[in-house]
Amino acid sequence: MDNRPIGLFDSGVGGLTVVKQVMKVLPNEKTIYFGDTARVPYGSKTKETVTKFSEQIIRFLLTKDVKAIIIACNTASSNSYDSLVRTFPDIPIFEVITAGVESCIDATKNKRVGIIGTQATVRSGAYELGIKQRMPDIRVFTNPCPLFVPLAEEGWTDNEVAYLTAKSYLDPLLENGVDTIVLGCTHYPLLKRCISKVVGTDVTLVDPAKATAMKMRRFLETNDMLNSDGDGSRTFYVSDHTQSFDTLCERLLKQHYIAEKTDIEKY
Ligand code: DGL
Repeated sequence: MDNRPIGLFDSGVGGLTVVKQVMKVLPNEKTIYFGDTARVPYGSKTKETVTKFSEQIIRFLLTKDVKAIIIACNTASSNSYDSLVRTFPDIPIFEVITAGVESCIDATKNKRVGIIGTQATVRSGAYELGIKQRMPDIRVFTNPCPLFVPLAEEGWTDNEVAYLTAKSYLDPLLENGVDTIVLGCTHYPLLKRCISKVVGTDVTLVDPAKATAMKMRRFLETNDMLNSDGDGSRTFYVSDHTQSFDTLCERLLKQHYIAEKTDIEKY
């Protein structure tokens, strides 16, 4: 048994969709979340910058004595995971891409899948690579959807602007006959209702968050690190206070939390 918390991070509110699944799958675990609200979005930044930001956040989370970390961000997972594992060999680090790859392979029937994510995630090719390595005959179609991130951060998740934006991003994938679309950015599940309206009921939407939380659960069980009688407490840190972080946190996690501001640049 290991009572230390699990650390999670993202550029902003997106990773809260992963926190929500961790709360369901690992209800006794304590979690510490860092949202880099001062530096969002990551999706338009270079691999080097995303890696540097992620390193600072991991150094910060290590000061909180976390036992494992989930990179609750596809952009950092796809661009920086290998480097982060090399830089921090002593802490178990989980990414979200593998769970997304495996879930979409399980879901597709016609072997035509769409991947939506940030520009940096799509550019990394991480999803295509993961899918092709496991199932070379799957056709993969990608489309970056950068405007989904500010829409999610603003809480504009199910209005006309969100709908029209979703339509222009998703129509090209639908024209390619995909039967499965991976929400390859942790902000995107916040727009799920709107995305569903555009793609209809014949297309399966894959959110890697639950399968990622399950992977963490299996890891903790196998290594005798579960916190079986913990209180499931949540602590939130941000690099800047934003109204939308607090509002979305409350809306998504059904509880009021006050995020603490941290000067992440000093780590
Ligand atoms: N939520 C993040 C992701 O999964 C990052 C979005 C962004 O900051 O551009 O990629």
